[in-house]
Amino acid sequence: MTGKKKHSEGEIETVAPAAMGTAEWQAEFLTQRRLDKARISARFAGKTLDNFSARDKGRKMLVHSAQTYVSGFNLNKEAGGFPVYPKGLLMTGPVGCGKSHLATAILRGVIEKGYSGLYYNSPDLLRDIRATFQPDSDLTEDDLLEEVTTVDLLVFDDVGAENATGFVLDRFYLIINERYEGCKPIIVTTNLNLEELENRLGKRILSRMLEMCEIFGPFPEEDWRRRNLR
Ligand SMILES: Nc1ncnc2c1ncn2[C@@H]1O[C@H](COP(=O)(O)OP(=O)(O)O)[C@@H](O)[C@H]1O
Ligand SMILES: [Mg+2]
Repeated sequence: MTGKKKHSEGEIETVAPAAMGTAEWQAEFLTQRRLDKARISARFAGKTLDNFSARDKGRKMLVHSAQTYVSGFNLNKEAGGFPVYPKGLLMTGPVGCGKSHLATAILRGVIEKGYSGLYYNSPDLLRDIRATFQPDSDLTEDDLLEEVTTVDLLVFDDVGAENATGFVLDRFYLIINERYEGCKPIIVTTNLNLEELENRLGKRILSRMLEMCEIFGPFPEEDWRRRNLR
């Protein structure tokens, strides 16, 4: 951010606020840049762990687990000379129970700690992959997949909401398997239960997801959007 200082008639010099260039300012600038690149939509940009209302025991537990996950997230941890990678999270629950809210809030928390992050809901990811096939696309499919597979934390929202064609399963396998091999965590959210997810995605994908992720929940059965309608 810059300010304007007037010297004499017509002469304006751009001046930097005192904080600019300090280590704190630079860290904030870099965090904001990582947040801007994370693709968190306008709807979820303001969702945090603080504004997830948790008056009941179940939701309190969810917020506590989310806080613990963010504070424990570390890609450079070692034990006995070997790297220890954070697990991902698998969030299952009905529509409106708060999965996307908590997943994006966790992503924000991890980005604020200095890691890179990316949010994609699965239909949008498939749309963006298909868009790379257009002759006028500036991005190749490989560039997009590279970003999705190497970012420190990927939120893959609403898995199972897409039509599971051969093309879709092939791309999902590639993404999950690359992250699995690279020990890169993923937060998966879905409205399907594990059996339905396995029927939709197949054993190969689900089995890797389960090894990579802890089950995060249980989420409340209630659709938050309908809470005042009863
Ligand atoms: N406990 C909560 N406190 C505040 N807002 C909530 C809570 N649970 C859900 N919401 C809000 O309700 C809406 C639906 O939640 P969302 O996370 O999109 O549900 P899901 O992804 O499980 O379908 C969002 O706007 C979300 O912020
Ligand atoms: Mg959702």
